[in-house]
Amino acid sequence: MKILVTGKGGREHALITALSASPEKHELFAYPGSDAIATLATCVSVAGLSQAISWNLQDLIEWMKQNHIDLCMAGEEALLVKDRGLANLCAEAGIPCWGPLKEIAQLEASKGFAKKFLKRHGIPTADFTICTNAEEAKAALTETPIVLKFDGLAAGKGVAVCTSKEEAEQFVEDVMEKRCFGAGDLLVEKCLTGPEISVFASVCDDSYQILMPARDYKRIRDNDQGPNTGGMGAVASLKLAEPALMQRIEREIVKPTVEGIRKDGLRYRGFLYFGLMLTPTGPQVIEYNCRFGDPEAEAVLPMVRGDFATYVFEAAKGNLKPELIQFAPGWSICLISASAGYPASSHSGDVISGLEHVSGARVYHCGTKKNAAGQFETNGGRVLAVVAQGETRVEARDKAYAESAKVTFDGLQRRSDIGKMHFE
Ligand code: AMP
Ligand code: GLY
Repeated sequence: MKILVTGKGGREHALITALSASPEKHELFAYPGSDAIATLATCVSVAGLSQAISWNLQDLIEWMKQNHIDLCMAGEEALLVKDRGLANLCAEAGIPCWGPLKEIAQLEASKGFAKKFLKRHGIPTADFTICTNAEEAKAALTETPIVLKFDGLAAGKGVAVCTSKEEAEQFVEDVMEKRCFGAGDLLVEKCLTGPEISVFASVCDDSYQILMPARDYKRIRDNDQGPNTGGMGAVASLKLAEPALMQRIEREIVKPTVEGIRKDGLRYRGFLYFGLMLTPTGPQVIEYNCRFGDPEAEAVLPMVRGDFATYVFEAAKGNLKPELIQFAPGWSICLISASAGYPASSHSGDVISGLEHVSGARVYHCGTKKNAAGQFETNGGRVLAVVAQGETRVEARDKAYAESAKVTFDGLQRRSDIGKMHFE
């Protein structure tokens, strides 16, 4: 089988590694991929597709047709809502695609769409008001703390959990009057409290399978201090949530979501990520993402056993076969090493040393490139994910930290409490 994965980061490195571990050997391609991914897959550069700037999806589809690609797997979300949508164009071309159609990928792309969907289908989520101007937004600031969310692209900076009215009013002015993120609505949301958990499902039309849950660590520094990042580490295990809690999440959140998509006359095929908060009154949806999480994928995918490639291929064609994969017992812990300045900025060109000494863990490359001398160097904010497994959480954590310590580069930032905080 010929499989193309879209994306270039640690999640895609982990997805391609999982595909390459399937019993049958497949021909793997990545668009655009990375120097590290190139050791497992052919990185595609399509004429007319100047990466990240002017993606012309139709060129990619043409390339897939000409190269007889059997399966397209969406790693990152961007292409799902680009132009007429990756999955939509794959469907027209008759190429099975694991990743949803543009119409329902709005669950991730538009926070307003997601909140209205949740409300319409009676799925637990924080009460909210959608405001179209500053006046409406200020009138909705009736309590503190309060959560404000810009409904549009904001490079991860569009959410503010405000503890004072002044702070909230300032955010409203920045977003709705100064338009610091451009045009878009503002959601004013009730502030929920409780630990967060990432639940993943493979959704295939009317059927779904809940996968291994994970928890990510979003803040840059230990003890959840400092600004939010793309994720500084993750813990995954079937033991992360008690069976009774998982059953409740399935009954109150996953099942009604899958049914809601169908009731709305839409179809979903792909991974669906439920960002949940476990509040004192039960689990509530904070956000949906139409893809696997990153860095959660790096923690979960090494735990997958069975035939991942056939599983995804069959599901993309409409046949979800849960029996094709299993999840290992125990714990998996992923530690991210980030470059200097992250998350406000990032630093490229710092040479990475010690990669060859890592033995008891996997290394997925999030943001690296090879220099002229053939050494890997930093090339982005999040640089590497070092992932280890163990029978117990402590064993997995000790192994991940011991292996991760072997890898260094100038300005490296790594949290020291992944898999400890929120557990001990
Ligand atoms: P989002 O981009 O919607 O996932 O929000 C980013 C982060 O803000 C979440 O991971 C939560 O930590 C926090 N957050 C979002 N919504 C709420 C809420 N209603 N109550 C408390 N915290 C929230
Ligand atoms: N781990 C958060 C995300 O993938 O959005």
